[in-house]
Amino acid sequence: MGIETGITAETPAEGEDLAALIVADWHAAYAALDWQLDCGIDEVIGEVPVNRYEVVVEKPARPQPAASSPQAPAQPRAPWPDVQEQPAVPGIDPVAVARATAAGAATLEALADAIRSFDLCDLKRGARNTVFADGNPKARLLILGEAPGRDEDIEGRPFVGEAGRLLDQMFAAIGLSRQSPDPAAAFYITNVMPWRPEGNRDPTPAEIAMMRPFVERHIALADPDVIVVMGNTPLVALTGNRGILRARGNWTTALEKPLLPMTHPAYLLRTPGAKREAWADLLALRAFLDKE
Ligand code: URA
Repeated sequence: MGIETGITAETPAEGEDLAALIVADWHAAYAALDWQLDCGIDEVIGEVPVNRYEVVVEKPARPQPAASSPQAPAQPRAPWPDVQEQPAVPGIDPVAVARATAAGAATLEALADAIRSFDLCDLKRGARNTVFADGNPKARLLILGEAPGRDEDIEGRPFVGEAGRLLDQMFAAIGLSRQSPDPAAAFYITNVMPWRPEGNRDPTPAEIAMMRPFVERHIALADPDVIVVMGNTPLVALTGNRGILRARGNWTTALEKPLLPMTHPAYLLRTPGAKREAWADLLALRAFLDKE
């Protein structure tokens, strides 16, 4: 979550002790920052505070019935879309553009370039980096996550924060790493969304649908033997279903590949009791790789 700071420097009034004022200000500023961190505000997005209650968002006027036909039978009312649900660029279908762009990429490098130049997803504007993938692209296992968080946005690589460190430990426990040059001992990792959603919110269904053609092409080009989806967003993107806690551990098929849903490592950090089930899922994955 971000905030406009509104923190201003104060000049001491005549006779006021500058040193005392600085110390008092320092403590006040520290307490204010601490409070903001507790509220989940972890970055600055503007120098000047904006009172969002006073920002006027103009909605398009609802169409009125024609004055010349007052007796016209009532028509079923079309749902009135919220302003934010309307396509960012009127007249352009972002999913169709994404599909055509993704289809034109013949290699993983070309796909990374295609995603970097795709401008129809609003998330891109708030992100520092396009986070494409990491690991060995020839690996038998492809892991699909949700979206970059703060650390990934800064570094431009997926799963490099606390959840990523846990993920690396989990897969190391069954003999797999990002760095291994051996496809049988490696994994390749990417996300449904290449851009960080502001405040780490969940991507919307429209954003997932828009990026899905890129995910499909990514999987087709990497051509893994097995896919692990971590969390709800990739589960929805590849199977159309939500409910990772019900789906986890149950093998299914997506894009003609065996797919194992697992809980997200960020969830495991918050819910250590769930690590036992995650370990069972890792063992099932190991058994699959050993048998195939
Ligand atoms: N969570 C994800 O799903 N992906 C990342 O890259 C980081 C955290």
